[in-house]
Amino acid sequence: MRVGVLTGGGDCPGLNAVIRAVTKSLIHHGHCEVLGIEDGFEGLRGEASRARLLTWDQVSGIVHMGGTILGTSNSANPLKDDATLAQVERNVRALGLDVVVAIGGDGTMSLAHGLARIGLQCVGVPKTIDNDIALCERSFGFDTAVATATDAMRRIESTAYSHHRVMIVETMGRHAGWLALESGIAAAADVILLPEIDYDLQPIIERCRRREQRQRYTVICIGEGAKERGAGLTVREQVAHSPDPVRLGGVGHVLRQRLQPHLQSEVRTTVLGHVQRGGDPTAFDRVLATRFGHRAAQLVIDGQFGHMVTLQGGHIASVPIAQVANTQRKVPLDHELIAIARAIDVCLGE
Ligand code: F6P
Repeated sequence: MRVGVLTGGGDCPGLNAVIRAVTKSLIHHGHCEVLGIEDGFEGLRGEASRARLLTWDQVSGIVHMGGTILGTSNSANPLKDDATLAQVERNVRALGLDVVVAIGGDGTMSLAHGLARIGLQCVGVPKTIDNDIALCERSFGFDTAVATATDAMRRIESTAYSHHRVMIVETMGRHAGWLALESGIAAAADVILLPEIDYDLQPIIERCRRREQRQRYTVICIGEGAKERGAGLTVREQVAHSPDPVRLGGVGHVLRQRLQPHLQSEVRTTVLGHVQRGGDPTAFDRVLATRFGHRAAQLVIDGQFGHMVTLQGGHIASVPIAQVANTQRKVPLDHELIAIARAIDVCLGE
């Protein structure tokens, strides 16, 4: 059997551990050749496909490495139009692929699902530092991103108390606040603002003023999808529609402008950005990625195509890709961590 492996969408720590586990499990099983497709679906839709045979040695020594040895792309849509789809079909035939293991987020799962139209079978592996893939309680990369954001916030706290400042730290998390919530709690942020709860300015001002009197510094953690109540579009949505997106900055900058006139302390913003996606995966993410990769290989061997590997109740399982394509898992408002945050008096902007 010829199995293609690709990584699509934004990169994420742990991708190489999945590539390694899929490839080694299939080679060890026997009767399988594994082709690494370059730059996600981009490698399948050009006039000449871009793919290379993955050997045991080529996927050795990469479990600890961040990024993806196969490369990835955010914009490659194999379903763009009939001509593109026909080219993908020709490339898949020329490569002799029986199935593709697609490692990616909800967008990649949606594309993998759509490729069934040309008879291309796929097995999905969920990846995102945002931890927002439907029916998957934890994706690899999230643990690493939480650790990175937590470490950054602790560093920012030491400069915050030295300068008696209000420091706003913006984390990633387009649709969901998992990253802001977990790293905010781990770093003991005083205010945590999530896309799931539109915030009011007044409780944040009051929290900062109270702390100006006593501790004399405040750390605010804000997820990039958060917005002020009544603000209409999120800053991300405004950026998407703006002719001059650079001027808008991000949610952290918007919050700084809104807060500063009400406070005596200086307010500063740090956008953590892609540093959260880079670097070596934690041991937890290496193990989870290896479990996902091994199960994906098993699905291939068992002919259980059209399924995505997942984690449910701490166990590796699989669900139909159709059920997860283009849907996001947000933090439920009754989530334990939200209740705990309130109980320990973290300000959620309510
Ligand atoms: O992987 C999802 C994500 O981390 C989002 O939180 C973030 O908005 C996005 O990637 C940014 O990705 P890029 O800069 O590659 O478009």
